[in-house]
Amino acid sequence: MALLSFWACVLIVCFSLSLGEAANLSDLYPPLWEESPGQFSEYRVENGKSIINPWIYPERMGMYKILLTQTARYFEKFAPENENNILWGLPLQHGWQYNTGRLADPSQRTDCGYESGDRLCISVDSWWADMNYFLCALPFLAAVDSGIMGISSDQVILLPPPKDEMKFCVNVSTCQSSIPIAMRKWNIFYKRLQSPFSSFEDLLKYLWDAHTQTLHDVFKLFEHRLEYYSKPEADFERTWLVDVDYISALRLPTTLTRIYELQKSMPPRMLVNGDKVPFISDFSQRQNVFLFILSLVRDVNNWTGSLSLTIWKYFLKTQNARVKTLEVIETILEKFNSASPE
Ligand SMILES: *[C@@H]1O[C@H](CO)[C@@H](O)[C@H](O)[C@H]1NC(C)=O
Ligand SMILES: *[C@@H]1O[C@H](CO)[C@@H](O)[C@H](O)[C@H]1NC(C)=O
Ligand SMILES: *[C@@H]1O[C@H](CO)[C@@H](O)[C@H](O)[C@H]1NC(C)=O
Repeated sequence: MALLSFWACVLIVCFSLSLGEAANLSDLYPPLWEESPGQFSEYRVENGKSIINPWIYPERMGMYKILLTQTARYFEKFAPENENNILWGLPLQHGWQYNTGRLADPSQRTDCGYESGDRLCISVDSWWADMNYFLCALPFLAAVDSGIMGISSDQVILLPPPKDEMKFCVNVSTCQSSIPIAMRKWNIFYKRLQSPFSSFEDLLKYLWDAHTQTLHDVFKLFEHRLEYYSKPEADFERTWLVDVDYISALRLPTTLTRIYELQKSMPPRMLVNGDKVPFISDFSQRQNVFLFILSLVRDVNNWTGSLSLTIWKYFLKTQNARVKTLEVIETILEKFNSASPE
């Protein structure tokens, strides 16, 4: 039990939970949020169909913006200004990918995504961009399918990427046939969302279910992309995939303020050869510690043949345990924060 509590603590020690009041929530929005399309009519429209190119950053971000807007009504009861919309985690994560150069062409054969080239371009060769595609297209299309978006599925077209077209489903029917389980889980999430009886905890559960299912279903398709990256970055990508399961079991509330704070612990740039966690000199102490913990969790998961995940999930089975765990973490976190001023 003591060991488990320890894990509970370390896992989230860096997810800052004691949040300062944001002066203005719009300061927390991901990059280019204001500039991204917020409704279907702001995209190119042909024959009554909106045409979206998810391989251009503001266009993909716009899909999230529409999704967040259309689901806002279900979250009004939890907080004003859509702050507690738990779908915020997705666009914020995508914004972090953009800010840190992770959407650029890792093979460097094109200038896609680079400051010196086409900064807004999202490279199909980027592992992060590919994984994120499914964490954008699936929640988006399942919302269309659930009738939440105010359009029917034949009124929107997602353009395929310039290569590997066959790997990417582009509409409700192709996604349902190529990634059926994850699509179903997103649909279940929206069903729960539309029910007046769902609690915030319930919604988090179904959201994380759909999220982790999506990653599990597609990561094999893009494993070979890891070859493009430095060893530390590729390791981080593998680690992230494993650790998402641990975070999911905690049902981390993916609200605007929470995830904004969490992301301060994320690496502010791509990892390069020579980066040694937790001693990366241009990273904050908190970023170093966070990376260190992530890799520790990954190692333990590997050593125990993921028995540690089973135990972790078992330990966090009840809401009470999760709340207690978060409380413990909060206490430790306050100490940690005061010990490491940024
Ligand atoms: C918050 O920021 C937005 C956009 O910058 C602005 O329109 C709005 O008036 C601000 N709200 C407050 C309360 O300062
Ligand atoms: C979905 O996409 C596939 C592949 O591009 C296409 O053949 C099909 O007609 C599309 N279906 C709808 C309903 O748009
Ligand atoms: C897991 O452990 C095995 C055996 O020790 C090792 O070969 C493998 O690289 C490890 N995998 C990861 C992802 O660390």
